[in-house]
Amino acid sequence: MYSFESNVASYCRAFPDHFARAKGSHLYDAQDRVFLDFLSGCGSLNYGHNEPHLQAALIDYIREDGVAMSLDLHTEAKARFCKAFESIILAPRGMNYRFMFTGPTGTNAVEAALKIARKATGRRNVIAFTNAFHGCSLGALALTGSRSHRGTGNPIGDGVTRAPYEGYPAAGMDSADYLAQLLEDPSSGIDAPAAIILEAIQGEGGLNTASPEWLRKIQALARRHGALLILDDIQAGCGRSGRFFAFEGAGILPDIVVMAKSLSGFGLPMSMVLLKPEYDVLSPGEHNGTFRGNNHAFVTAEAAIRRFWQDTAFITALEMKADWLTTALDLLGARFGLRRKGRGFMQGLAFPRAEDALEVRRLAYTAGLIVECCGPHDEVLKLLPPLTATQSELNRAIEIITAAIELVLTPVAAATVGAQ
Ligand SMILES: Cc1ncc(COP(=O)(O)O)c(C=O)c1O
Repeated sequence: MYSFESNVASYCRAFPDHFARAKGSHLYDAQDRVFLDFLSGCGSLNYGHNEPHLQAALIDYIREDGVAMSLDLHTEAKARFCKAFESIILAPRGMNYRFMFTGPTGTNAVEAALKIARKATGRRNVIAFTNAFHGCSLGALALTGSRSHRGTGNPIGDGVTRAPYEGYPAAGMDSADYLAQLLEDPSSGIDAPAAIILEAIQGEGGLNTASPEWLRKIQALARRHGALLILDDIQAGCGRSGRFFAFEGAGILPDIVVMAKSLSGFGLPMSMVLLKPEYDVLSPGEHNGTFRGNNHAFVTAEAAIRRFWQDTAFITALEMKADWLTTALDLLGARFGLRRKGRGFMQGLAFPRAEDALEVRRLAYTAGLIVECCGPHDEVLKLLPPLTATQSELNRAIEIITAAIELVLTPVAAATVGAQ
């Protein structure tokens, strides 16, 4: 830690080296020690560090004096991004959304989505789920489940109703049916909602996944009760789930989708709200912000879409690697009594004791692999490899994790066996 940096810095505590450069799946420290980066800027570097095509597009743009800062003025870079996103991502999926560019953090896009839903419906209440994470500004924080995050800043909690996510508190209970009952019962104490907001895969909350059936039930509930369905695809989007959108294939069409993190593809700040035209209700400047047009991010975002999403080659390769990862984690899970969680390139292992997950994270780091923990107690070791990671990089990561788990869990396993 630098002595002048605030205590609030966090990732640098678990991964305390000074990093100097980065390429592909690797980070290099000042002594040129290499680390396999399976944190990927917490899902902001889906195409790895300094992806050459994106890097070249950005360098060319800067060299040609392309506009860098333009508030929300029309620019070539923005127009090109919008055209590419519309024709390559939305049109083939039969989606018709308007684009709203917000301040360049995910949490700012969530704030915008809240304002839209509240204005469009004239209602205040929003349904959010257990273990949700939607960001750390006060509106988004009120939607977030984590008590330690919400404890800070005294978020204005009124106007948010917490509902159980799929599988909460235990498998077997249909939490969508439970929510349906609450909404239908005039005496349940729940006000008619402006929106229901959810992640199709809960990234920070422990890699909990929602099934297509559950998502369809939630969408039907939103429709029946006149609420907007807001899908937070900030972490699970841009391919991380194995599809471009994490809700793809579930048979739902959210009213609003919030995106950030890997949208620029290069780690540059950029956020976007996709909204159905009928909900484009904010008047000019009603949700404002200086940095709503990061042209450098538009340039790399367009390059990423053209490079990776024009045909199916990238997603087909990703599916194969994700299947391999699922099998590898299932095998590890079976061997050590751990539960695999998540989907696509957003998977991990749930440990009965959070301290074991954190110790595996520490040992992996000393062996040159950066992986985080997530979940209510940090009990889930969470792998977010770049979607461009090679098979040998995946092999290496699993080798390191296996060795770390052996060190952490084998004495316990041995003691258990000895006691039998
Ligand atoms: C699902 C989800 N929503 C919102 C956010 C907040 O994004 P940001 O940190 O860019 O404000 C995050 C960040 O991790 C996230 O995972």
